[in-house]
Amino acid sequence: MTLYDLTSDTATQPTDEMFDIMKTASRGDDVFSQDTSVHELEQYMADLLGHEAALFGTSGTMTNQLGLRCWLLHPPQSVLCDSRAHVHVHECGGIAYHSQAAVTPVIASNGIYLTKEDVEAHISTDTLCGAPTKVISLENTLNGTIMPIHEIQRISELARSRGIKMHLDGARLFEASQATGVSMKEYGQWFDSVSVCLSKGAGAPIGSILVSNKQTIQHARHLRKLMGGGWRQAGMLAKAALHCIKTVVPTMPQTHQLTRRLADGLVDLGFKLVVPCHTNMLFIDFSPLTTATIAVPLLEQHNIKISNTPGSSLCRIVLHYQITSDVVDRFLSLATDLAAKHKITPSGDSAICSRSSSVVSSVTDLSSAYPSVQ
Ligand SMILES: Cc1ncc(COP(=O)(O)O)c(C=O)c1O
Repeated sequence: MTLYDLTSDTATQPTDEMFDIMKTASRGDDVFSQDTSVHELEQYMADLLGHEAALFGTSGTMTNQLGLRCWLLHPPQSVLCDSRAHVHVHECGGIAYHSQAAVTPVIASNGIYLTKEDVEAHISTDTLCGAPTKVISLENTLNGTIMPIHEIQRISELARSRGIKMHLDGARLFEASQATGVSMKEYGQWFDSVSVCLSKGAGAPIGSILVSNKQTIQHARHLRKLMGGGWRQAGMLAKAALHCIKTVVPTMPQTHQLTRRLADGLVDLGFKLVVPCHTNMLFIDFSPLTTATIAVPLLEQHNIKISNTPGSSLCRIVLHYQITSDVVDRFLSLATDLAAKHKITPSGDSAICSRSSSVVSSVTDLSSAYPSVQ
């Protein structure tokens, strides 16, 4: 029986159609920038985000770290980001390792996204005893929540007025764009570099893109080789990725609808939604803890796998285009039995976020409580 892996949208399986498309790829050497399929993907993404050039890399971690490294040329310096940001929490301390830079993690005062005021209060200009802020790195979506475009614009205008570079970890920018109708280009214009993952909700087997100006991408290409990330006949991966961008990305709104149905169903049963459900991710509090320790194995017995940090009642659930409506039905039916068994009842004050579109009411830094984010 198929296991439905709801731990991450990186769990999508390559399809036979993708393998067929890979056979049509060019077979040049991308270390020497000689592969037509890679060029086609890079140009497509650069145009989509309104930037001059792009670089195809193995992972989001690599394209984030390359983008940041390109702006961090003269230590001591620092990167300002959300305290929950992947670049800070989940990239093995890469900013310190690759760029010799400090990180200023900032807690979003509204509990969801950084505002210009949050950022402005933490910019360092201390060139004697501090590590001056050289880059502001934003993440959209962050834990599945969307950062409003007007706030991005406000932060970007502030950064530009202070000579600070803007990087975007847009691992799931396609999700934000599909959910809001704000184009990738509209998002892209506010940043000096953007990393977009192709192997998350977009469904490609491998790959991530960095876009920026030509000179920066040339520098990133050199640094990619330094990190051992220069790959040879990468055309087949580029071909599959471009196919996914064109065929899977437009299906994201359906995945978002399905995620909202699951979120609303769980909240109606009395489970707590910890952050609002804007796209394809849910953070559910299955408290009391005993419920969580039963919920995760119970779901797995029925071939539904979700993430949970041991000792915590918080679970992360991520949907993607290969998760169908009947999986959500099965999930909700199991949750209904669980709620009945544990006498969990819907009550207004139990949910931090009541239904999926509502806003977090408490200002909490949940980064340490989240199940590991992939
Ligand atoms: C927000 C975010 N940024 C970057 C990454 C890094 O992507 P990768 O796993 O391809 O290195 C991830 C993946 O887990 C992510 O969730």
